[in-house]
Amino acid sequence: MEQSKTLLGQMDYHHHCGKTTMALVELVRSQLIFCALAVLAEERKPLECLDAFSSTGIMGLQWAKHLGNSVKVTVNDINESSVARIRENCHLNKIRTVAKADEMPDAAPEISDKDFVATVEVTNMDANILMHMRSFDFIHLDPFGTSVNYLDAAFRNVRNLGIISITSTDTSSLYAKNTHVAKRHYGCNLIRTEYYRELAARVVLAAVARTAARCNKGIEVLLSVALEHFVLVIVRVLRGPSLADESMKMINNLIHCHWCEERIFQKEGTMIEENPYNQLPCDCHISMPGRSAVLIGPVCLRMFCFTSIESSFDRMLSAHSNSFQMQNHTPGIHP
Ligand SMILES: C[S@@+](CC[C@H](N)C(=O)[O-])C[C@H]1O[C@@H](n2cnc3c(N)ncnc32)[C@H](O)[C@@H]1O
Ligand SMILES: [Zn+2]
Repeated sequence: MEQSKTLLGQMDYHHHCGKTTMALVELVRSQLIFCALAVLAEERKPLECLDAFSSTGIMGLQWAKHLGNSVKVTVNDINESSVARIRENCHLNKIRTVAKADEMPDAAPEISDKDFVATVEVTNMDANILMHMRSFDFIHLDPFGTSVNYLDAAFRNVRNLGIISITSTDTSSLYAKNTHVAKRHYGCNLIRTEYYRELAARVVLAAVARTAARCNKGIEVLLSVALEHFVLVIVRVLRGPSLADESMKMINNLIHCHWCEERIFQKEGTMIEENPYNQLPCDCHISMPGRSAVLIGPVCLRMFCFTSIESSFDRMLSAHSNSFQMQNHTPGIHP
Protein backbone atom coordinates (compact mmCIF):
# COMPACT_ATOMS: atom_id res chain seq x y z
CA MET A 1 0.00 0.00 0.00
CA GLU A 2 1.34 3.38 -0.83
CA GLN A 3 0.49 6.93 0.10
CA SER A 4 2.81 9.68 -1.08
CA LYS A 5 5.51 7.08 -1.40
CA THR A 6 5.28 6.28 2.29
CA LEU A 7 4.26 2.75 3.03
CA LEU A 8 1.61 1.85 5.54
CA GLY A 9 0.46 -1.54 6.73
CA GLN A 10 -2.71 -2.91 5.10
CA MET A 11 -4.99 -2.28 8.07
CA ASP A 12 -3.67 1.20 8.59
CA TYR A 13 -4.40 2.13 5.03
CA HIS A 14 -8.04 1.10 5.35
CA HIS A 15 -8.21 2.91 8.66
CA HIS A 16 -7.16 6.04 6.80
CA CYS A 17 -9.04 5.78 3.56
CA GLY A 18 -12.38 4.06 3.86
CA LYS A 19 -13.57 5.89 0.73
CA THR A 20 -11.73 7.24 -2.25
CA THR A 21 -12.79 10.82 -1.63
CA MET A 22 -11.78 10.53 1.99
CA ALA A 23 -8.39 9.27 0.84
CA LEU A 24 -7.99 12.24 -1.47
CA VAL A 25 -9.06 14.74 1.16
CA GLU A 26 -6.64 13.19 3.63
CA LEU A 27 -3.92 13.35 1.02
CA VAL A 28 -4.64 17.02 0.43
CA ARG A 29 -4.56 17.72 4.15
CA SER A 30 -1.24 15.99 4.61
CA GLN A 31 0.19 17.79 1.57
CA LEU A 32 -0.88 21.18 2.89
CA ILE A 33 0.81 20.48 6.19
CA PHE A 34 3.85 19.14 4.38
CA CYS A 35 4.09 22.35 2.30
CA ALA A 36 4.11 24.49 5.44
CA LEU A 37 6.83 22.36 6.98
CA ALA A 38 8.89 22.37 3.79
CA VAL A 39 8.84 26.17 3.75
CA LEU A 40 10.03 26.33 7.34
CA ALA A 41 12.73 23.74 6.63
CA GLU A 42 14.20 26.14 4.08
CA GLU A 43 14.39 28.88 6.71
CA ARG A 44 16.11 27.05 9.55
CA LYS A 45 18.14 23.91 9.87
CA PRO A 46 17.89 21.51 11.48
CA LEU A 47 14.26 21.95 12.24
CA GLU A 48 12.71 20.15 15.19
CA CYS A 49 9.20 19.07 14.37
CA LEU A 50 6.56 17.18 16.26
CA ASP A 51 3.72 15.02 14.99
CA ALA A 52 2.02 15.08 18.38
CA PHE A 53 -0.92 12.71 17.69
CA SER A 54 0.71 10.44 15.21
CA SER A 55 -1.50 7.33 15.24
CA THR A 56 0.13 5.39 12.37
CA GLY A 57 3.03 7.79 11.90
CA ILE A 58 1.84 8.72 8.42
CA MET A 59 2.61 12.45 8.71
CA GLY A 60 5.89 12.34 10.59
CA LEU A 61 7.26 9.51 8.51
CA GLN A 62 6.60 11.43 5.32
CA TRP A 63 8.37 14.47 6.71
CA ALA A 64 11.42 12.43 7.66
CA LYS A 65 11.48 10.50 4.40
CA HIS A 66 11.09 13.46 2.07
CA LEU A 67 12.88 16.24 3.95
CA GLY A 68 15.81 14.11 5.14
CA ASN A 69 18.43 15.68 7.35
CA SER A 70 16.86 19.13 7.26
CA VAL A 71 14.29 17.97 9.82
CA LYS A 72 14.49 16.18 13.15
CA VAL A 73 11.15 14.47 13.47
CA THR A 74 9.48 13.34 16.69
CA VAL A 75 6.40 11.17 16.27
CA ASN A 76 4.31 10.78 19.38
CA ASP A 77 1.19 8.97 20.49
CA ILE A 78 -0.22 8.28 23.93
CA ASN A 79 -1.47 4.86 22.89
CA GLU A 80 0.98 1.95 23.12
CA SER A 81 -0.53 0.01 20.25
CA SER A 82 -0.30 3.12 18.06
CA VAL A 83 3.35 3.41 18.96
CA ALA A 84 3.89 -0.24 18.04
CA ARG A 85 2.21 0.47 14.70
CA ILE A 86 4.41 3.52 14.16
CA ARG A 87 7.48 1.34 14.72
CA GLU A 88 6.18 -1.22 12.20
CA ASN A 89 5.62 1.49 9.64
CA CYS A 90 9.11 2.85 10.26
CA HIS A 91 10.48 -0.61 9.61
CA LEU A 92 8.43 -0.90 6.42
CA ASN A 93 9.81 2.42 5.22
CA LYS A 94 13.44 1.77 6.21
CA ILE A 95 13.29 4.52 8.80
CA ARG A 96 15.41 4.09 11.89
CA THR A 97 13.74 4.82 15.25
CA VAL A 98 15.42 6.27 18.30
CA ALA A 99 13.96 6.80 21.76
CA LYS A 100 15.65 10.14 22.45
CA ALA A 101 16.24 13.15 20.22
CA ASP A 102 19.94 13.37 21.14
CA GLU A 103 20.49 9.95 19.52
CA MET A 104 19.50 11.37 16.16
CA PRO A 105 22.34 11.81 13.66
CA ASP A 106 23.24 15.38 12.66
CA ALA A 107 24.51 14.35 9.26
CA ALA A 108 23.92 11.50 6.83
CA PRO A 109 23.49 8.07 8.40
CA GLU A 110 26.63 6.05 9.20
CA ILE A 111 27.92 3.54 6.67
CA SER A 112 26.56 0.68 8.76
CA ASP A 113 23.15 2.37 8.66
CA LYS A 114 23.14 2.93 4.93
CA ASP A 115 19.96 0.95 4.53
CA PHE A 116 18.03 3.55 6.52
CA VAL A 117 16.62 6.47 4.57
CA ALA A 118 15.89 8.58 7.67
CA THR A 119 15.68 8.59 11.45
CA VAL A 120 12.76 9.55 13.67
CA GLU A 121 12.34 9.78 17.41
CA VAL A 122 9.31 7.81 18.62
CA THR A 123 7.73 8.82 21.93
CA ASN A 124 4.80 7.45 23.89
CA MET A 125 3.56 10.41 25.93
CA ASP A 126 0.62 12.64 26.57
CA ALA A 127 1.12 15.38 23.96
CA ASN A 128 0.49 18.10 26.54
CA ILE A 129 3.31 16.84 28.75
CA LEU A 130 5.69 16.47 25.82
CA MET A 131 4.97 19.97 24.52
CA HIS A 132 5.40 21.48 27.98
CA MET A 133 8.72 19.68 28.41
CA ARG A 134 10.32 20.47 25.06
CA SER A 135 10.50 23.16 22.41
CA PHE A 136 9.80 22.54 18.75
CA ASP A 137 9.91 24.67 15.61
CA PHE A 138 6.95 22.96 13.99
CA ILE A 139 4.05 21.27 15.77
CA HIS A 140 1.23 19.35 14.16
CA LEU A 141 -1.87 18.81 16.32
CA ASP A 142 -4.42 16.25 15.19
CA PRO A 143 -6.29 14.95 18.25
CA PHE A 144 -9.67 13.29 18.22
CA GLY A 145 -12.25 16.10 18.16
CA THR A 146 -11.44 19.54 19.42
CA SER A 147 -7.88 20.78 19.61
CA VAL A 148 -8.53 23.44 22.25
CA ASN A 149 -7.22 21.29 25.10
CA TYR A 150 -3.76 21.15 23.49
CA LEU A 151 -3.30 24.73 22.34
CA ASP A 152 -1.88 26.06 25.62
CA ALA A 153 0.94 23.51 25.71
CA ALA A 154 1.72 23.99 22.02
CA PHE A 155 1.96 27.77 22.23
CA ARG A 156 3.82 27.86 25.54
CA ASN A 157 7.03 26.36 24.19
CA VAL A 158 6.98 26.68 20.41
CA ARG A 159 9.99 28.60 19.07
CA ASN A 160 9.64 32.11 17.74
CA LEU A 161 8.59 32.20 14.07
CA GLY A 162 7.77 28.53 14.27
CA ILE A 163 4.62 27.08 12.74
CA ILE A 164 1.70 25.26 14.35
CA SER A 165 -0.74 23.26 12.28
CA ILE A 166 -4.06 22.39 13.91
CA THR A 167 -6.60 19.89 12.66
CA SER A 168 -9.99 20.01 14.41
CA THR A 169 -12.53 17.27 13.73
CA ASP A 170 -15.24 18.48 16.13
CA THR A 171 -17.29 19.55 13.15
CA SER A 172 -20.64 18.92 14.86
CA SER A 173 -19.94 21.88 17.12
CA LEU A 174 -17.90 23.96 14.67
CA TYR A 175 -20.50 23.52 11.92
CA ALA A 176 -23.20 24.70 14.36
CA LYS A 177 -25.07 21.46 15.02
CA ASN A 178 -24.14 21.30 18.69
CA THR A 179 -23.97 24.98 19.47
CA HIS A 180 -23.79 24.41 23.23
CA VAL A 181 -20.55 22.48 22.70
CA ALA A 182 -19.14 25.31 20.59
CA LYS A 183 -19.99 27.63 23.47
CA ARG A 184 -18.20 25.35 25.91
CA HIS A 185 -15.06 24.73 23.85
CA TYR A 186 -14.67 28.03 22.03
CA GLY A 187 -16.71 30.46 24.16
CA CYS A 188 -18.51 31.25 20.94
CA ASN A 189 -22.11 31.90 19.88
CA LEU A 190 -22.82 30.07 16.66
CA ILE A 191 -25.85 29.51 14.48
CA ARG A 192 -26.06 27.63 11.21
CA THR A 193 -25.45 30.00 8.30
CA GLU A 194 -24.82 29.57 4.59
CA TYR A 195 -21.12 30.25 5.28
CA TYR A 196 -20.85 27.85 8.22
CA ARG A 197 -17.54 26.34 7.14
CA GLU A 198 -15.87 29.69 6.88
CA LEU A 199 -17.22 30.55 10.30
CA ALA A 200 -15.79 27.31 11.68
CA ALA A 201 -12.30 28.24 10.53
CA ARG A 202 -12.73 31.71 11.99
CA VAL A 203 -13.88 30.28 15.33
CA VAL A 204 -10.83 28.01 15.55
CA LEU A 205 -8.52 30.88 14.59
CA ALA A 206 -10.02 33.09 17.29
CA ALA A 207 -9.32 30.38 19.88
CA VAL A 208 -5.78 29.99 18.54
CA ALA A 209 -5.15 33.76 18.66
CA ARG A 210 -6.44 33.96 22.25
CA THR A 211 -4.23 31.09 23.36
CA ALA A 212 -1.17 32.58 21.66
CA ALA A 213 -1.91 35.94 23.29
CA ARG A 214 -2.02 34.33 26.75
CA CYS A 215 1.55 33.22 26.06
CA ASN A 216 2.48 36.76 24.90
CA LYS A 217 2.59 35.61 21.31
CA GLY A 218 0.81 36.70 18.18
CA ILE A 219 -0.12 34.71 15.10
CA GLU A 220 0.03 35.13 11.37
CA VAL A 221 -2.60 33.05 9.64
CA LEU A 222 -0.93 31.08 6.85
CA LEU A 223 -3.80 28.85 5.86
CA SER A 224 -7.31 27.88 6.84
CA VAL A 225 -9.36 25.15 5.22
CA ALA A 226 -12.74 23.76 6.24
CA LEU A 227 -13.67 20.55 4.47
CA GLU A 228 -16.25 17.85 5.11
CA HIS A 229 -14.86 16.35 8.28
CA PHE A 230 -12.16 18.70 9.50
CA VAL A 231 -11.00 22.25 9.88
CA LEU A 232 -7.29 22.81 9.30
CA VAL A 233 -5.55 26.02 10.27
CA ILE A 234 -1.84 26.69 9.99
CA VAL A 235 -0.34 29.68 11.77
CA ARG A 236 3.07 31.24 12.22
CA VAL A 237 3.98 32.15 15.81
CA LEU A 238 5.22 35.69 16.45
CA ARG A 239 6.73 36.23 19.87
CA GLY A 240 6.14 39.46 21.81
CA PRO A 241 3.35 41.17 23.78
CA SER A 242 2.74 43.85 21.16
CA LEU A 243 2.31 41.18 18.47
CA ALA A 244 -0.06 39.39 20.84
CA ASP A 245 -2.05 42.64 21.17
CA GLU A 246 -2.14 42.99 17.38
CA SER A 247 -3.53 39.45 17.04
CA MET A 248 -6.22 40.15 19.59
CA LYS A 249 -7.39 42.99 17.35
CA MET A 250 -8.21 40.31 14.77
CA ILE A 251 -11.00 38.98 16.99
CA ASN A 252 -14.48 40.41 16.85
CA ASN A 253 -18.17 39.52 16.76
CA LEU A 254 -20.25 39.29 13.64
CA ILE A 255 -23.76 40.73 13.24
CA HIS A 256 -25.77 38.36 11.06
CA CYS A 257 -29.25 38.92 9.60
CA HIS A 258 -31.56 35.93 9.97
CA TRP A 259 -33.64 36.89 6.95
CA CYS A 260 -31.18 37.65 4.17
CA GLU A 261 -27.91 36.27 5.65
CA GLU A 262 -26.29 39.68 5.30
CA ARG A 263 -23.46 40.03 7.81
CA ILE A 264 -20.92 42.48 9.01
CA PHE A 265 -18.23 42.57 11.66
CA GLN A 266 -19.38 44.53 14.69
CA LYS A 267 -17.80 47.97 14.96
CA GLU A 268 -14.79 48.24 17.24
CA GLY A 269 -15.25 49.89 20.60
CA THR A 270 -16.84 49.38 23.97
CA MET A 271 -19.71 51.86 23.67
CA ILE A 272 -23.15 50.26 23.58
CA GLU A 273 -24.94 51.36 20.47
CA GLU A 274 -28.63 52.21 20.70
CA ASN A 275 -29.50 50.27 17.57
CA PRO A 276 -26.73 47.86 16.51
CA TYR A 277 -29.01 46.62 13.71
CA ASN A 278 -28.08 49.83 11.90
CA GLN A 279 -24.64 48.42 11.31
CA LEU A 280 -26.11 45.81 8.96
CA PRO A 281 -26.18 46.86 5.30
CA CYS A 282 -29.67 45.34 4.83
CA ASP A 283 -32.93 46.93 6.01
CA CYS A 284 -34.70 43.74 7.15
CA HIS A 285 -34.89 45.16 10.66
CA ILE A 286 -37.09 47.95 9.28
CA SER A 287 -39.25 45.95 6.88
CA MET A 288 -39.53 42.96 9.24
CA PRO A 289 -39.14 44.36 12.76
CA GLY A 290 -38.42 41.91 15.53
CA ARG A 291 -35.48 39.64 16.06
CA SER A 292 -33.95 39.82 12.62
CA ALA A 293 -30.29 39.74 13.61
CA VAL A 294 -27.99 37.68 15.86
CA LEU A 295 -24.55 38.17 17.25
CA ILE A 296 -22.12 35.43 16.19
CA GLY A 297 -18.66 35.02 17.66
CA PRO A 298 -16.13 35.90 18.73
CA VAL A 299 -14.49 34.97 15.45
CA CYS A 300 -11.25 35.87 13.73
CA LEU A 301 -11.34 38.68 11.18
CA ARG A 302 -8.43 37.33 9.22
CA MET A 303 -8.80 34.05 7.37
CA PHE A 304 -5.53 33.48 5.64
CA CYS A 305 -3.17 35.28 3.41
CA PHE A 306 -1.23 33.20 0.98
CA THR A 307 2.38 33.81 1.74
CA SER A 308 5.23 31.52 0.95
CA ILE A 309 3.20 28.35 0.70
CA GLU A 310 1.26 29.73 -2.24
CA SER A 311 3.27 28.15 -5.04
CA SER A 312 3.39 24.69 -3.49
CA PHE A 313 -0.31 24.94 -2.82
CA ASP A 314 -1.11 25.95 -6.39
CA ARG A 315 0.81 23.00 -7.75
CA MET A 316 -1.08 20.70 -5.46
CA LEU A 317 -4.43 22.27 -6.27
CA SER A 318 -3.96 21.81 -9.99
CA ALA A 319 -3.09 18.17 -9.39
CA HIS A 320 -6.30 17.61 -7.47
CA SER A 321 -8.62 20.15 -9.07
CA ASN A 322 -12.40 19.60 -8.95
CA SER A 323 -12.11 17.07 -6.17
CA PHE A 324 -12.53 19.33 -3.17
CA GLN A 325 -13.62 22.78 -2.13
CA MET A 326 -11.29 25.34 -0.67
CA GLN A 327 -12.44 28.32 1.31
CA ASN A 328 -9.73 30.55 -0.07
CA HIS A 329 -11.61 33.79 0.09
CA THR A 330 -14.05 35.45 2.40
CA PRO A 331 -17.42 35.51 0.68
CA GLY A 332 -19.34 38.43 1.97
CA ILE A 333 -17.47 38.94 5.20
CA HIS A 334 -15.36 42.05 5.40
CA PRO A 335 -12.52 42.74 5.45
C1 LIG B 1 -7.09 11.55 15.06
S1 LIG B 1 -5.86 10.41 15.53
C2 LIG B 1 -4.44 11.03 14.72
C3 LIG B 1 -4.43 10.78 13.25
C4 LIG B 1 -3.10 11.02 12.60
N1 LIG B 1 -2.55 12.33 12.89
C5 LIG B 1 -3.23 10.83 11.10
O1 LIG B 1 -3.03 11.76 10.33
O2 LIG B 1 -3.54 9.71 10.71
C6 LIG B 1 -5.58 10.81 17.20
C7 LIG B 1 -4.45 10.04 17.85
O3 LIG B 1 -4.12 10.75 19.04
C8 LIG B 1 -3.79 9.82 20.06
N2 LIG B 1 -4.00 10.53 21.32
C9 LIG B 1 -5.17 10.78 21.98
N3 LIG B 1 -4.95 11.53 23.06
C10 LIG B 1 -3.62 11.82 23.09
C11 LIG B 1 -2.79 12.59 23.93
N4 LIG B 1 -3.28 13.23 25.00
N5 LIG B 1 -1.47 12.67 23.64
C12 LIG B 1 -0.96 12.03 22.58
N6 LIG B 1 -1.70 11.27 21.73
C13 LIG B 1 -3.01 11.18 21.97
C14 LIG B 1 -4.69 8.63 19.81
O4 LIG B 1 -4.11 7.46 20.33
C15 LIG B 1 -4.78 8.63 18.28
O5 LIG B 1 -3.84 7.74 17.72
ZN1 LIG C 1 -31.27 41.27 6.19
